[in-house]
Amino acid sequence: MKENLKFYGHDTVALAKRYGTPLYVFSANCFHASVEAIRRAFQKTKLDVTIHYAGKAFLTKAMCKLVAQEGLHLDVASGGELFTALQAGFPAEDICFHGSNKSNEELQMALDHRIGLIVIDSFDEIDRLTNLTTPEDRVDILVRIAPGIEAHTHELIQTGKVDSKFGVPASMVPQLMETLQELPRFQLKGLHCHIGSQITETEGFIKAAEKMLEIYAWIQKNYGQSFDYLNLGGGFGIPYLPQDPCIDLNALFTDLGEKVRDLCTEYDLKIPQLMFEPGRYLAATAGVTLYTVGTIKEIPGQKTYVSVDGGMMDNPRPALYGAAYHAEICNGKDEDKPVTVRISGKACETDTLIDQILLNDPQVGDILMVHATGAYNYAMASNYNRLPKPAVVLLMDDQSDIISRRETYEDIVRLDEIPSWLED
Ligand SMILES: Cc1ncc(COP(=O)(O)O)c(C=O)c1O
Repeated sequence: MKENLKFYGHDTVALAKRYGTPLYVFSANCFHASVEAIRRAFQKTKLDVTIHYAGKAFLTKAMCKLVAQEGLHLDVASGGELFTALQAGFPAEDICFHGSNKSNEELQMALDHRIGLIVIDSFDEIDRLTNLTTPEDRVDILVRIAPGIEAHTHELIQTGKVDSKFGVPASMVPQLMETLQELPRFQLKGLHCHIGSQITETEGFIKAAEKMLEIYAWIQKNYGQSFDYLNLGGGFGIPYLPQDPCIDLNALFTDLGEKVRDLCTEYDLKIPQLMFEPGRYLAATAGVTLYTVGTIKEIPGQKTYVSVDGGMMDNPRPALYGAAYHAEICNGKDEDKPVTVRISGKACETDTLIDQILLNDPQVGDILMVHATGAYNYAMASNYNRLPKPAVVLLMDDQSDIISRRETYEDIVRLDEIPSWLED
């Protein structure tokens, strides 16, 4: 009998047995290795760089602790993410707050806790923040710019185009600067852009840096203002399938550093501190999802459906963007009997998790591991079909701990109310 599949030294079948399935498993060791890898790559810029982990990829209170332990800053994109970070005691001054439609309540929370930076996304947000502050206040801000760069990635995760709900179009920077001149309470520390996600080519990042420094030069020339920071967002792609390309971060940051240094010399700019906001690159491969195979249907002349006990509720990315994943059967088997199958979820939708994959002799009751689910899976999970969300287990060396409990049916009805006129 072959051994069961291991994930960072842990027997995956034993994890499934101990914590139940579906189960998100996240390796602190893998996260640490990815942080180290990206740190080494950033050194190639030969510039001062800060890393803000993008909490939207995966955030719980324990995750905030891990991020702080790694010495990273944190990018949050909603009141809920900000609240999670504050509850975990994450240093407020190391938090950067994003969002294309922040509410008064969210902005007030950020102001009350004096978080490090608020990234303004629109003129309406400047109005909202003005109403929430006094002329004597001082609030450090960045402004998100839509630089007009089309990254090589899925259309739905391209975010730097001119025609985008994110940021202020580059063409409106003069208007932005005029508005901010009247509001000295806002300390404009720099600009931000994020061109998209799951990008595996380096060209878009270089073009974005060029465009942003061109804007810095224009602002310095016309307003005499120089900036402390240049935030170029996240978006570094990872290989989801064994044959997928991985972005060459060493090449990217060597070229990017050279470009920034050259352009700052050419435009006579103070070299800003660079900020990056990787989410997926740090979290995705640190996570896997374990499922139990429930039903196997061999449709004569068609295909074999292997149905698992999760689906689009715990991983909506295949349904949203046609995202591809790799999976393996975890149970050690005596022989290799590869079969081509489709992996389906249990939702009342055609929730295909993996369209076509070779699995080794899948049987009812087997444990299946889907790779690279650490980013945008738990974070995007829903209760569709009123299904409870899976637990999340954190692995650290040979230790495993629950960091988010499995929801129960009680949790599912916890917020429900029945109006008196419907009571028996
Ligand atoms: C502003 C911003 N920063 C960072 C990220 C993280 O992107 P990724 O997880 O692809 O690195 C996103 C993702 O949408 C984003 O919108």
